[in-house]
Amino acid sequence: MKNGVNGSGLRLLIIIGEGPANDDIKYLEEGARQRGHLPLVVSWHELSVALDDRGPRLCAGGLPLAVDGIIHQMSTDALPGLTVLGAVEDGIAHLNSTAAVLRSADKFATHVRLAAYGVPTPDTAFCPGDRELRIFARAYGYPVVLKQPDGARGSEVALARGEDELIAKAESIRGRGRPLLVQRFVAEAAGRNHRVVVVGGRFVAAVEQTGRPGDFRSNGPGDVCRPVTLTDEEVAVVERTARAAGLDLMSADLLRGRGGPVILETNSFPAFGGFGHVDLRDPILDLIERKAAARRAGTGVPLAVPGRRPVPRKGLAPFVPPVPPAPTVSSVSSVPSATSAEGLPAAKASPAADVVRVPDGSLTSGKPPAGGKSPAGEESVTAPD
Ligand SMILES: Nc1ncnc2c1ncn2[C@@H]1O[C@H](COP(=O)(O)OP(=O)(O)OP(=O)(O)O)[C@@H](O)[C@H]1O
Ligand SMILES: [Mg+2]
Repeated sequence: MKNGVNGSGLRLLIIIGEGPANDDIKYLEEGARQRGHLPLVVSWHELSVALDDRGPRLCAGGLPLAVDGIIHQMSTDALPGLTVLGAVEDGIAHLNSTAAVLRSADKFATHVRLAAYGVPTPDTAFCPGDRELRIFARAYGYPVVLKQPDGARGSEVALARGEDELIAKAESIRGRGRPLLVQRFVAEAAGRNHRVVVVGGRFVAAVEQTGRPGDFRSNGPGDVCRPVTLTDEEVAVVERTARAAGLDLMSADLLRGRGGPVILETNSFPAFGGFGHVDLRDPILDLIERKAAARRAGTGVPLAVPGRRPVPRKGLAPFVPPVPPAPTVSSVSSVPSATSAEGLPAAKASPAADVVRVPDGSLTSGKPPAGGKSPAGEESVTAPD
């Protein structure tokens, strides 16, 4: 293996959240070791950055940490960790930039970006209050989907069949903040979602996820995943989604709508659960190896599929606010009627895991850097997007 310092394996930093590493991380760590790399699994709580006239220097336990590549599992539950990554990501090969992760955690920002790149998404409105929810729900036609802009595991996603239910459910999921999203319901995909993994701009694998009977949501307690084959059109849409999202390592939720695939959201570190039919470690490790090699060569990191500019929105009709309804009956109904009921499941706890503590003194995952130099900041890199 000719990847890291001295032609040996890469010193790979795998950043996790609070608590022990989960099974996915242990599996990835084992895969990295099998390839001859030197993985070091560290919680972001252990990391700091020292900035001086040589630039930002990654530290663990207060001591400089020399690494050749970073893979991480962080999202908005690890904002200080993302600050650390943001400080050093221009100088170290990594998967998933801070900016791409932050956007992906925001469902509405993701929709805006995807729409600009010509990726089909359901009509969605960002609503500061009930007045706007009512207006856009009428425009889309009941039933509509209501969700928190940054919810997960379906726990803050609800279906409203009429205005009273809309306002009641808005109140019940509003706990963490007033603005909510109201979205056109893709009725023909009720209870069924395709979770699709794309790495380095290339489709890797997909599973069909189905929820509990009677629930329009495909995720949550009791959901079932099975491998599924995507059509060429769906593969093209998810690869475009990854380019638009700027995510090296992504899973996307794809619904099979009547008019073709629509993308519901992106996630920045896919859970491996349900993907037992494929070894997700291979494309992930291939990509970080390519990125680290490109950085050493100073050539930048080409994604497998070249980035594209946003699709020009020629011919897009100017936005016209929906006409307020007549006082009697609700006026707009352009969406097929609902096919499923809904029961709100409790949020599922994330799997727990084992933090590997950074050893005091030796912080370079066991391998001294060549010439005692940290590779951080050594070479310039071309952004992948
Ligand atoms: N507009 C929609 N039309 C049909 N079904 C929807 C729609 N929005 C959400 N759903 C269903 O609800 C599920 C959960 O919604 P979504 O993926 O937006 O949020 P989340 O599950 O909270 O996020 P995450 O998947 O990151 O945990 C989807 O997988 C899908 O089955
Ligand atoms: Mg989802």
